[in-house]
Amino acid sequence: MSLLSVKNISKNFGALKVTNDLSFNLKEGEAIGVLGPNGAGKTTLFNLISGDLKPDSGDILLNGNSILSLGAADRCLEGFGRTYQVPHPFEGMSVFENVFVGAVYGNNHSEKEAEELALNVLEQTGLINKAEALAGSLSLLERKRLELAKALSTQPKILLLDEIAGGLTEHEVHDLIELIQNIRKNGVSIIWIEHIVHALLSVVDRIIAINFGEMLIQGDPQIVMNSPEVKEVYMGIEIE
Ligand SMILES: Nc1ncnc2c1ncn2[C@@H]1O[C@H](COP(=O)(O)OP(=O)(O)OP(=O)(O)O)[C@@H](O)[C@H]1O
Ligand SMILES: [Mg+2]
Repeated sequence: MSLLSVKNISKNFGALKVTNDLSFNLKEGEAIGVLGPNGAGKTTLFNLISGDLKPDSGDILLNGNSILSLGAADRCLEGFGRTYQVPHPFEGMSVFENVFVGAVYGNNHSEKEAEELALNVLEQTGLINKAEALAGSLSLLERKRLELAKALSTQPKILLLDEIAGGLTEHEVHDLIELIQNIRKNGVSIIWIEHIVHALLSVVDRIIAINFGEMLIQGDPQIVMNSPEVKEVYMGIEIE
């Protein structure tokens, strides 16, 4: 059985079909990349999975059970974690406090357990030396790391990453890839939206390509990248 099953989900904003009859499965321990041009509906797909939005039709199953009736907070408790494309940490709180909040509320942990977990996550994401810094003072790379740390603080089984490598230098992207590979090794299943294709290719087992809210093609990364469908959509567009 799949860990996550997205079944024929659709979402319209007024006349705009943003998600159109999308279906795919995620197996336990698997990592999937999501590719598609700006406005293709990638972030909306995450909003539908995380419970920030409800689909107009279709179903989303976790271990075979529909989660559509659950809101975002309950889906978090069921094991969904996500990063946001535009990080919005609590700027006036320290880095530690930002992660601590997730560790307390995302797991129903005691304060003591949450503190330990938050420190572990800060260590793992390379932010331990910034624990006392205000979140609002961080560099872009540190903000991306904090976004990841906040998502990890809820100990997700399924981690949704929305353009976590965007805007970073090549060297920074390399470090981030290693970090995500380590998270995978700890058994977390991952869905990663990313325009930086080489980063995706070094982590994921499969790629889903969407355009205008519809599935263009899904499957083996090399086959998807070399497909006429993907080449046509990206023709003339620099994606690497
Ligand atoms: N809450 C909303 N209300 C109305 N339209 C929306 C809303 N959210 C997204 N859209 C529209 O839906 C379409 C898909 O948006 P989405 O953010 O899912 O795209 P995306 O693939 O993540 O794009 P990008 O690569 O730029 O992040 C866009 O045309 C966007 O303007
Ligand atoms: Mg987006």
